[in-house]
Amino acid sequence: MAKTATKKTAKKKTAKKAAKKSSSRGASNGPGLLEFFTEQLKDIYWAEKHLVQKLPMLRKAASSEELQEAIEEHIEQTKEQVTRLEEIFSMLDKKPQAKKCEAMEGLTEEAKTVISETERGTATQDVGIILSAQKVEHYEIAAYGGLAQLARTIGREDIADILEETLAEEKDTDVLLTQIAENNINYEAAEEGEEQEEEEEQEAAE
Ligand SMILES: [Fe+2]
Repeated sequence: MAKTATKKTAKKKTAKKAAKKSSSRGASNGPGLLEFFTEQLKDIYWAEKHLVQKLPMLRKAASSEELQEAIEEHIEQTKEQVTRLEEIFSMLDKKPQAKKCEAMEGLTEEAKTVISETERGTATQDVGIILSAQKVEHYEIAAYGGLAQLARTIGREDIADILEETLAEEKDTDVLLTQIAENNINYEAAEEGEEQEEEEEQEAAE
């Protein structure tokens, strides 16, 4: 145990040294990283604004009241997240700018397909909606986690704190969606599946 702890401290020290080295080397690295950070901000800014437009489609298709409410709440959160990103742009003395996020467009397109390929008003469709929403959340968790880390690397703790606020909301939403699925929707969807199988068997027997 003690050995591991020493190893960890040693590792940390090496990491610190490496960071120092790169920052002293990096008058040229610094601006590059800031530029990269800003580009990534534009990506998630586009993604959030896109979600404000597209999440209502998920809410409308959801049958479970619990799910509808969770999505509604997340739409409101998403609007705040857009405002937070605008705040970050201004902290960087930049105008908010959006750059198309192909990944988010793909995820919402996929959600649309899931809705159209499952039967309206079924628990199976709700399962599909939850899964699609969780894929969105996981993209955002990765994006905000990475951005918060980058913000600290470029010495902007103030910006990292704001990004982590959003990160926490995305994680909470992901947990909530899992709970909704586990509570009853997955069970209902399994029952629907059984009923359908029975019907098919009956039809085959007739
Ligand atoms: Fe978000």
